[in-house]
Amino acid sequence: MSFSDPPRPTGAYFDAYAKDPSDVKFGELPFPRKPLGPNQARVDVYVAALNPLDWKVNSGQLKYVLNTTFPAPLGYDFSGSITELPDDIHSDDGKTRNPLGLNIGDKVYGMAGITNYGTVSTSVIVNITDLARKPRNISFTKAAAIGMGGLTAYQALEKLGLTESSNNNTGDDNNNNNKSSIFISAGAGGVGSFAIQLAKHHYKLKEIATTVSTNKVEVAKKLGATTVIDYTKQDFTKDLSADYDAALDCIGVPLEVSRIIKPHNNGRIVSVIGTPTSEVLAPLADKMVSESNKIVGTTKATLLKYGIDAYHYVTVSRKLNPLGIEHHYIFVTPNGQQLEQVFNPLVVESLVNPLIDSMHEFTKEGVVAALEKVREGKTTGKVVIRVLRNLAEDIDD
Ligand SMILES: NC(=O)c1ccc[n+]([C@@H]2O[C@H](COP(=O)([O-])OP(=O)(O)OC[C@H]3O[C@@H](n4cnc5c(N)ncnc54)[C@H](OP(=O)(O)O)[C@@H]3O)[C@@H](O)[C@H]2O)c1
Repeated sequence: MSFSDPPRPTGAYFDAYAKDPSDVKFGELPFPRKPLGPNQARVDVYVAALNPLDWKVNSGQLKYVLNTTFPAPLGYDFSGSITELPDDIHSDDGKTRNPLGLNIGDKVYGMAGITNYGTVSTSVIVNITDLARKPRNISFTKAAAIGMGGLTAYQALEKLGLTESSNNNTGDDNNNNNKSSIFISAGAGGVGSFAIQLAKHHYKLKEIATTVSTNKVEVAKKLGATTVIDYTKQDFTKDLSADYDAALDCIGVPLEVSRIIKPHNNGRIVSVIGTPTSEVLAPLADKMVSESNKIVGTTKATLLKYGIDAYHYVTVSRKLNPLGIEHHYIFVTPNGQQLEQVFNPLVVESLVNPLIDSMHEFTKEGVVAALEKVREGKTTGKVVIRVLRNLAEDIDD
């Protein structure tokens, strides 16, 4: 580092696959300070949020798909303010790389991409298109909590074929969407809690069933679930009738979920964990090849595609196709426009409320405690880390 270089950000990182959350390192990040790319923005992080993916990636559970290079930073979700943008935000063909017209100083939030994460840090570089403006009346804490959970829920519900106009309670039979009932597993989790609220307020579905454990039944009802199954006492495959139109599977059990989907009725299940399909993972692998040759080799990406498809056919689609039920797997992608256009109006009207499970300090101890919560998988909503210390009065204004 020369005298003219600004100090490196402080944050959390791993220098090898972790066996335990306490393996996380905390301090000045050991990465060279990168210049901003033409599509990127530098953001001072105020609040970061963790997801199960953070622990899965850094503990090596996904090492056959995502070959992490170390030292590796931590965190995808964030809120904060923009400190740097490229001078020229137009590409060679004159198109803007800044479709939301963001400026330095704007308060923003979002989910960082699969190859430029590291939001548990005082500063992060993200793609400009991953950013959304933070609405004035929502705290940085709640904004940071939307990122990956919110986008996964939205992209999964879109993949189920729901549209905003569906079942708008007007009795309009010309509605272009014939789905009115949905089953969402793990309704108190980071994804499920957003999915229930979107199903109720964005898609206006009439029947929303979910599974939670006993002490989360009231939370699920408050989010908007109309039927709540306590999975510690009941079996949803027996206690729900087989007439749901669609399901979001957050547990990775599409065959069990298929038992409550109405057969031969264009029923659809989308999973966010478990048996993937290459329609999502192959483009992801291709993208990783083009963005960073270090992550997945081209041959590996091709083999991955065929292997994934064969495995999915044998384990899932061979059994669901005869019932006329489609199964898809999605892998979330960052998208600032979806956050701004779908989530901002809903959170401003308090129709979608990001649930905060726990708030942790931006210290080694705080990050370890946050990672332990995520690893345990018993959270109600999101685990967040307050990066900017004097954000103690971060209230919805
Ligand atoms: N494909 C993608 O792009 C993508 C994106 C985001 C997340 N994911 C994956 O999707 C899964 C869910 O993510 P998340 O962020 O929602 O996780 P999360 O916030 O950690 O989920 C925790 C919740 O799951 C509930 N739960 C655990 N086992 C359950 C069961 N058998 N039935 C019902 N609820 C159960 C827990 O409730 P109790 O405490 O009551 O058990 C807790 O409320 C994770 O595996 C994650 O890795 C995938």
